[in-house]
Amino acid sequence: MDSYDVLVIGGGPAGYVAAIRAAQLGFRVACVDAFERNGKASLGGTCLNVGCIPSKAMLDSSEKFEMITHEAADHGIEVDGARVDLGRMLSRKESVVDKLTGGIAYLFKKNKITSFHGLGRLVRQDGDGWIVDAAGTEVRAKNVIVATGSQPRALPLAPFGGNIVENSGALAFEQVPGKLGVIGAGVIGVELGSVWRRLGAQVTILEALPGFLLAADDAVSKEALKQFQKQGLDFHFGVKITDVKQDESGVTVTYEEKGNAVTASFDKLIVSIGRVPNTQGLGAEAVGLNLDERGFVKVDAHYRTNLPGIYAIGDVVGGAMLAHKAEEEGVAVAELIAGQAGHVNYDVIPWVIYTSPEIAWAGLTEKGAKEQGLKVKTGQFPFSANGRALGHGDSRGFVKVVADADTDRILGIHMVGPNVSELIGEAVGMMEFGGSAEDLGRTVHAHPTLSEVVKEAALATDKRALHM
Ligand code: FAD
Ligand code: NAI
Repeated sequence: MDSYDVLVIGGGPAGYVAAIRAAQLGFRVACVDAFERNGKASLGGTCLNVGCIPSKAMLDSSEKFEMITHEAADHGIEVDGARVDLGRMLSRKESVVDKLTGGIAYLFKKNKITSFHGLGRLVRQDGDGWIVDAAGTEVRAKNVIVATGSQPRALPLAPFGGNIVENSGALAFEQVPGKLGVIGAGVIGVELGSVWRRLGAQVTILEALPGFLLAADDAVSKEALKQFQKQGLDFHFGVKITDVKQDESGVTVTYEEKGNAVTASFDKLIVSIGRVPNTQGLGAEAVGLNLDERGFVKVDAHYRTNLPGIYAIGDVVGGAMLAHKAEEEGVAVAELIAGQAGHVNYDVIPWVIYTSPEIAWAGLTEKGAKEQGLKVKTGQFPFSANGRALGHGDSRGFVKVVADADTDRILGIHMVGPNVSELIGEAVGMMEFGGSAEDLGRTVHAHPTLSEVVKEAALATDKRALHM
């Protein structure tokens, strides 16, 4: 029987990064992953295959179309006859995915990581290690890292199938739906809703909660909602779905809104109401691995489960279901297994939503900071007062800095506007080093750049923004 120092179950951002870092640290490593795309093994998990990467490829393609059809004329560029070749757009997306998933296979080879394709299942304890069924082959591992990720949560009234789809289906419609319904105004709802609206669909988004993006700073969610509604996304908040029926031609959804029963028909329905952990088939029950009441694997601060030598990371342990959080846990757990001080700073995890305008934040919202009893000061600066944004032709949104009124330490930075997915990196770096609004305001920012808005927002916490 083959024997490994570290066996990773799951080859998504959590698992593949843990495997690479463990190999760098000198361990003998194997990874077993079950994901298949087009009938073939494909490493990279949800993120690379049917999540982060293909969704951003489609967001970029559809945004280019929107730019050409709606914004180019403002720049003095006349384009006649622009049209979407959806087949080509989808195959471009697939080729981006192929490149990246193939890249992980290459990295595994380079780091001498043994790769098994199929299910991984915990079988039994064996001395100070574990026997794991890796795609039908029993192997022995001193340490096991469970990184099995998550899958879309289904709405019992609307099981996936036919014209009711989750993220994978919503990234592969063969034609642009005339009418698209989306249940859930979360991250997937607004990102994929934006893709198909830009390509010509009429998009209706049905959300159970009374407001939009409640985790974001109030000012940001308010501005983003205003922009999305202006683009034609039709949001309905506080709705209760009461019936969903589908036939070959489409899906009919009945919901309650403000006490009224409403029926709407769609060609396709995306259900994006959150994700649930993947633990079925893992052998958790057989070996006595503790899960919480929602099915997430329970871990301590060092990713240790209740079983010695079994660790868990990524979406399957809950918390922020983000690829970069999963990757950092992958690095940390490998280092902890090696006796090093692996650590993730959960206070400064960036959130980014790749809509137009983009949304990004890190740290506490103004409301969240106040709820913690902190005395806060805030500074906000609009992109409309920034030369580069005006040159771009996109000056929607702002940056808002939330700082401690006594110490000046930055508690949170919130952004909605052009390219804020990139601007948030500076904020995260500054916060990671315990930076103050003064530090950020005195840092030299290149001119003319969008990043000057971040600096000005920091200065605005002391009412000394220079260009407003
Ligand atoms: P996963 O990526 O889910 O990987 C788990 C892997 O384990 C899968 O390959 C699965 O097949 C495999 N597996 C499961 N059970 C077993 C088993 N028993 N044996 C063997 N293999 C098994 N996050 C971001 O940070 N940025 C984004 O832009 C972003 N966009 C997203 C867009 C969409 C549409 C979706 C759905 C998600 C997006 N996410 C994004 C979230 C991100 O994809 C996840 O947080 C991330 O993939 C979690 O990584 P993971 O390794 O924990 O799990
Ligand atoms: P989500 O948690 O972001 O949003 C789900 C939404 O559905 C919530 O607003 C919730 O109130 C609503 N909802 C729940 N039940 C409902 C019901 N019965 N009827 C109507 N609305 C209902 O989950 P989503 O969009 O499915 O995405 C899953 C996760 O994937 C995200 O939380 C995020 O972690 C990750 N992701 C990250 C992205 C990024 O980083 N840019 C992009 C896409 C996904």
